[in-house]
Amino acid sequence: MSTKEIRLDLEATLTQAVYGHGHAHYGYWPDGVPQVLSLQSLGQAQQAYFDLLVSRIPKGTRTILDVGSGTGANALGLTEKGYALECLCPSEHLNALARGKLRGDVLVHDLKFEDYDTERTFDLCMFAESFHYIDLAQALAKLARHADRHVLIFDYFRKDAAEAEGGTRGTHAEFRRMVEDQGVFEVLGDEDLTQAILPTFVVLDHMRTNLFGPFAQRARAALGKAYPIRAKLAEWLLGRKLDKIGRPGGRAESFPERLEYRLILMRRI
Ligand SMILES: C[S@@+](CC[C@H](N)C(=O)[O-])C[C@H]1O[C@@H](n2cnc3c(N)ncnc32)[C@H](O)[C@@H]1O
Repeated sequence: MSTKEIRLDLEATLTQAVYGHGHAHYGYWPDGVPQVLSLQSLGQAQQAYFDLLVSRIPKGTRTILDVGSGTGANALGLTEKGYALECLCPSEHLNALARGKLRGDVLVHDLKFEDYDTERTFDLCMFAESFHYIDLAQALAKLARHADRHVLIFDYFRKDAAEAEGGTRGTHAEFRRMVEDQGVFEVLGDEDLTQAILPTFVVLDHMRTNLFGPFAQRARAALGKAYPIRAKLAEWLLGRKLDKIGRPGGRAESFPERLEYRLILMRRI
């Protein structure tokens, strides 16, 4: 398991434990930074993200392939709205959470999209913050096989082509060019929602610098007094990691410099 996979697993487990819904995507904040910076507001913004995603599902859609389904939170909400879902995600832990909340007739595959090898097709293939994990060319080739009518992508793309080298996360321009060259889908909607996603980082930074960071420092000082030898060992092992807890991540500034968050709807031509 890579550190990115472990972090994703931890975040998804936390959103399940803290909010009960288990959404593993950022929040959507159409009204900007909220007055009260709390985990509760983040949970509500994640729900707003889901509601926006649902609002873009074209009329007449019945079957949906949820690619990168996380803890199954989106899939659960969609089955409750009457859609027939199939899910896939390479994380067995996240899939165990998904199977626990979804009805038995919702298939959940322990797979990467690249390895999904069936003749099954869907009215809609959907990616909620999961498209950037997949190589662009492979993703489009797979979509040509499995998306009968529409593709919905709510995810971020790199801005600068140089940065995309070596990773799966392509640039938005590259994505549009490849869709055009492939000639299978036409883009019906392509909204830049970066600004409405950024308050996610403002809230998380507030938690780090004003709450979790100071708590970690107080706990370290108290434990250092109570158990000096063990605390020294813990400091030696974890001190640098603990120092980081209270530092702002600065993603509200760095994210829009490098990335853009898009909501894209495509239709099969
Ligand atoms: C940020 S989470 C989003 C989860 C969920 N869609 C949500 O909105 O809560 C990204 C998801 O993509 C999955 N993923 C990573 N690589 C993938 C791949 N190659 N194919 C399909 N899913 C992948 C992860 O395991 C995880 O479930």
